[in-house]
Amino acid sequence: MSVDRLNLRVERILPAARDALVVELRDPAGAALPPFAAGAHIELHLPDGLVRQYSLCNDPGERDRYQVGVGLAADSRGGSRYVHQHLKVGDTLTVTAPRNNFPLHEEAEEYVFFAGGIGITPILAMIHWCEANQRPWRLFYLVRSRERAAFREVLAAHGDKVLLHADEDAGGFFDIAAAIAALPAHSHLYTCGPTPLMLAVEAAAARFPEEQVHFEWFTPKAIESQGDRPFTLRLAKSDKCLEVPADKSILEVLELNGVKVEHSCREGTCASCETRVLAGIPEHRDSVLSAAEKARNDTIIVCVSRALSETLELDL
Ligand code: FES
Repeated sequence: MSVDRLNLRVERILPAARDALVVELRDPAGAALPPFAAGAHIELHLPDGLVRQYSLCNDPGERDRYQVGVGLAADSRGGSRYVHQHLKVGDTLTVTAPRNNFPLHEEAEEYVFFAGGIGITPILAMIHWCEANQRPWRLFYLVRSRERAAFREVLAAHGDKVLLHADEDAGGFFDIAAAIAALPAHSHLYTCGPTPLMLAVEAAAARFPEEQVHFEWFTPKAIESQGDRPFTLRLAKSDKCLEVPADKSILEVLELNGVKVEHSCREGTCASCETRVLAGIPEHRDSVLSAAEKARNDTIIVCVSRALSETLELDL
């Protein structure tokens, strides 16, 4: 087993809300687990080759367990359905060591969290970190109904730092634009939840510098692929030159030519296929690199991104 893969025992499965579970994983021999920072996720390797990423929601100070929140997706492609219907205490799961595409800026003056539904999971780990480090924070937790609000008791203990808005009780959607308009300019915003919530925060937070607005996308942003053009891929290490046609991704072309690249989601949200760019200009289409990382053009998410230049040289 590679060092970044662990075989862990399912220790507990607890209801967190309607259609949401918390799965707790521990080393079967009680060994300490690799550390993680707030915002990190792990991949669960499920039967039938399914690999799914789930954010860690427990206190990042804990080394003896990982807890992930798993919402039952209405359009589940098998991952969340398996966890909800078949996973049981005592099972062994292979998981990857934690990775973090949604890190907290540790020097922010104030943390403002927007979570929708099960998107509360990485935010909960962030709240643990803020509490442990005595940092100011507040949470806007937006759900369709109260029964879909996960970790209600844990959150209730934080009093007025948490605003829970249930559309059904309130008779409508929360006014995200008004909430963001009232935030001080030094706030760092962290958002995780369904796409409409992410887009609403993105639009309302336009006055904040990009480096203060952070997102963890569950599902990728829509990609416009009409007008895609072919380009040439040069691989420095394997000394290959490959054509990427308009209807294939870089990752697909690499696979077809026997070039191995780590990957998981294949939709630009997990960063496992991130690859170093040596020359050329990427056309970034992923939902995981920050604006600053995209602007540097020294890395590319090969499952979805393409090239603006005629040729792209990768460190492969
Ligand atoms: S495989 Fe997940 S971002 Fe490319």
